[in-house]
Amino acid sequence: MDQAQKLRSIITETKNEASDARILTISSGKGGVGKTNFTVNLGIALGKMGKRVTIIDADLGLANVDVLFGIVPKYNLFHVLKEDVPVQECIAEGPYGINIISGGSGIMDLIDLSQDELEKLIHTLTYFNDVSDYILIDTGAGLSKSVLSFVDAASDVIVVITPDPTSITDAYALIKNIIKDDRKRIKLIINRVESNEEGDEVFNKLEQAVQKFLDKDVENLGYIFEDSNLKKAVRKQLPLLEAYPRAIASKGIENIAYNLENNNKYVKSNHNFRAFLNKLINKI
Ligand SMILES: Nc1ncnc2c1ncn2[C@@H]1O[C@H](COP(=O)(O)OP(=O)(O)OP(=O)(O)O)[C@@H](O)[C@H]1O
Ligand SMILES: [Mg+2]
Repeated sequence: MDQAQKLRSIITETKNEASDARILTISSGKGGVGKTNFTVNLGIALGKMGKRVTIIDADLGLANVDVLFGIVPKYNLFHVLKEDVPVQECIAEGPYGINIISGGSGIMDLIDLSQDELEKLIHTLTYFNDVSDYILIDTGAGLSKSVLSFVDAASDVIVVITPDPTSITDAYALIKNIIKDDRKRIKLIINRVESNEEGDEVFNKLEQAVQKFLDKDVENLGYIFEDSNLKKAVRKQLPLLEAYPRAIASKGIENIAYNLENNNKYVKSNHNFRAFLNKLINKI
């Protein structure tokens, strides 16, 4: 068997798809728009609803997922793939039993993984699939090659934007790059809005551009208001939903979690976990 065949045969062994986790990658064109805070608090909102959530931090930036939780996992995926650390040891437990996993440096560069390490990556992701209803991947901003392979493989991509004009044009550029796969569903979150009308305006602007020039639809997953409580929560190293559950931004995020789970418009696409793994290894 050649390498790719061997990896594919491992993937075929993965279990039935009825209980597959839903994989959502969270991305943005421009940095600093609120992705990490959104990912963490979406995880908590889903956890509160009784869902099993795994958050993978694939971003190598500074304000990381673990920092927002005030938790530092001892090991990261790098140790699992390169140093034979058992997968369970790279999982830190957050509120509501959320699994928090840090990607670690370089790990998202799939090109650089050996055959052996790729097999381990597949087994590791399969483990996360088995223990989760949702896998949220915070991918960081922009279009680095490594980020793109995860965004490309997942069927659902959440793009976070703010009303800032450069955020909108950068989001358009990102969408243009990830749109090649017809089945891919692109969901927009407008963060830091001052009113619902402002959210509508920003959404409509981007939706029209994407429809007109790329001939593709985007979904409106909801708005999160500008909220000074968010900065306060970050300083306390507590997720907003834990520190200020009644804040207006918390309500916005809970509403988005509810939409994901219950709104028929956003029901899980038929793109399953095996398809995700296959697409991931096809990049190599
Ligand atoms: N809804 C909001 N209301 C007020 N401030 C916000 C809001 N969302 C984000 N911020 C501010 O933006 C900062 C950056 O947020 P965050 O770290 O989540 O962005 P990011 O997109 O993950 O950044 P990076 O691209 O660097 O990873 C927060 O620390 C907070 O101060
Ligand atoms: Mg971030």
